[in-house]
Formats: sequence, C-alpha cells, structure tokens
Amino acid sequence: MNTNLMNNFSFIFPTRIDYGIGIIKNLTCVLKEYGITKPLIITDKGIVESGLLQKVTALLEADHFDYFVFDEIEANPKDYNVDKAAETALKNHTDGIIALGGGSPIDTAKAASAIISYGGKALDYMGKNKVKGPVQPFITIPTTAGTGSEVTFSSVITDSKKNFKLTMKSEYIAPKVALLDPELTVSLPPSITASTGVDALTHAIEAYSAKVSEPIADACALYAIELIAENIREAFNNGMNVQARAAMQMGSTLAGIAFSHSDVASVHCMAEALGGIYDAPHGVCNSILLPHVMAYSLKDATDRYARIARAMGSKEECDIKAAEEAVEMVKQIVSDLKLPKFSELGVREEDLEKLSEMSVANLSTDSNPRFMGKKEYLAVL
Ligand SMILES: [Fe+2]
Repeated sequence: MNTNLMNNFSFIFPTRIDYGIGIIKNLTCVLKEYGITKPLIITDKGIVESGLLQKVTALLEADHFDYFVFDEIEANPKDYNVDKAAETALKNHTDGIIALGGGSPIDTAKAASAIISYGGKALDYMGKNKVKGPVQPFITIPTTAGTGSEVTFSSVITDSKKNFKLTMKSEYIAPKVALLDPELTVSLPPSITASTGVDALTHAIEAYSAKVSEPIADACALYAIELIAENIREAFNNGMNVQARAAMQMGSTLAGIAFSHSDVASVHCMAEALGGIYDAPHGVCNSILLPHVMAYSLKDATDRYARIARAMGSKEECDIKAAEEAVEMVKQIVSDLKLPKFSELGVREEDLEKLSEMSVANLSTDSNPRFMGKKEYLAVL
C-alpha cells in the first residue's frame, strides 16, 4: 500500500458544522452567536422558486431580524455576480452573510465577503492568499449534496470577459458555520441530485488519488465514497428518502473536506474549462469525464483505485482487477443516473485545443496521479 505518511502536512479546519434533520430551525440562534443582526441572503432564482428562501426568511422574521436578499446568482457564478452581491451588502449596511443554495451562491458569498471587508473587485482576489485578514462572518446553508463548498477555503468564479474559471484560495474565506440539514435537499430534482452527487463523488475520488493527498483527507474521502456509492441511486430514484439524502449530504461535506486539504485533479481541470467556455453544468462535465480520466490514470494509481473500489463495495482482492473494477463501477453509476452525454454539451471541435490548454493552465493539473499535458488532455477529450 502506497501511503503518504512520510510527507508533512497541516490540517486546518475553521468551519463549525451543525448537522441534523430540521437543524435549520437554529439559524437565528447561530446568527446571534456570531453577532449578525442584519444578514444579506445570497441565493439564486431556483431557490426562490423552490420555496426554500421563504423557509429561511420566515425564521428571520419570526425572530424580528432585518435582512436583505440578493438572488441574482447564476450557475458557474460570474465576477459581476460577486461584485453586485458585495455592492448590495455595502449599500444596505448588512453585517453578515447567509449563503443559501448550491455551490454558486456559496462561492459567490466567499468572494463577496472579501470585497465587503477589504474593497476591490472579485477578480482582484483570484489566486492564492490574496485576502488580507478575517472577513465578515458568513453562514452557509447548502441545499444540494455536491459541491462541498460549505467546508472549503476556495471559491471558483468565472472571468466573464475571458470565459475562464478562476479559483480563489484563502483560509479567511472559510464559512464560519455550515448548517447541514438533509431535509432541505429532499426537493432537489433527480437530474440535479445526479449531477451534484457525481460532483461530490469526483471530489472524493480525485482527492484520494491526488499526488498531494494526506491521511486525514484520505479518511474523509474513503467514507465519502462509501456513503455516496451506496446512496446516490436511492437519492436519485426516491428523493424523499431522508436517510439517503442524509448520507449524500454527509458524503458531499466529507468529500469537500477531503479535496480542500488534498486537491482535485484533471477531471476538474477539464470540467472547469468546459464550464468556462460553454457554461456547461459542472457536475455533468465531471460525470462525463471521470471514468475516462480514471481509465487513463489507472496505471499510476492502481493501489488507490483498488481501495476506492473496495469502498464502493468490491470484494476483489487483486489490486489491478479491483482498480479496473473501480472504473467500471463509476461508469455504471453515471449510466444508472441517466446523465447527459458529451455530445449534448455542444463542444466544437475547433475548441478542443483551447480546452486542453486551459486544462493544463489549471492549478490542479499537477495533482493528477498520472501526468496530463496538452497532448494527453486532447486525447481524453
Ligand atoms: Fe467540483
């Protein structure tokens, strides 16, 4: 077994997790603990239409909180979404943020919190450690089981002029509290359950097999893989099953902890390039690419993939066979969830070269267990 116990690492985890069925009822209590009296709720139109926003505002009103809502967040959030969210906070003198929704509102809240506290524009903060110090407190309430953004230190924002996804990384933008209430995810439609669920599975698999993996992240990743593989089909077929939803939410959060302390790798490098150029749904891109990148990387990740297969229920003792089984198991999950195919993304042949170059430029490309250069990305695409 190839361990990573000879490498140095630090494990920092600043986010408090409050988990429970119905835990959302504690929201105002949590806000008071952090001195938030007038929050800005950052969310999107889908959350407004689903009635989830109303659930949150009813709690605030019952406890006489003043609040503002910014619901203009787009999928693959753009720099101007962040700038406008921060502007709304500053104009209305709000003193904290509630990020309600999937990864897009949460990532937006992270970047906006830096602008609110230190000025500037979203693009000024892209890259590593550009935030000067602590930011205005924010609470996350994830409504999907996928991105893990509620526990990570990073935010992925699209440069709208260059159609390029940028990552902002800083421990200061870690949410203060993640309120994890699986009941909020029961109304997710099957297609979103599938794409966000496979995003979480990708986080766990890439984190566990990344070159920069470390043992605490490994432990989180393996349990995440187990929970997701066991429950993703049930959550997709029977969304009202709270137990399956709870397993998916915990799996997604554990996968978030795993990849924020290890890394993601080539699947995400390509998914982010596709998201940047075509605004393609992130989880769908991952689901298409994951089995192909795994098949390519298998040669240099055999023991790790074998362990992944066993976390997904394989009894195969031979590592090589188990690793191959891991790829097949992932393929089967993607097929059972009826996710869209590559041909449905509308990728133009003349863009393949550019997509490969963008993937190489991604900060996470070196984390892939097997080398991926422009030629290799082109071959996989
Ligand atoms: Fe992701």
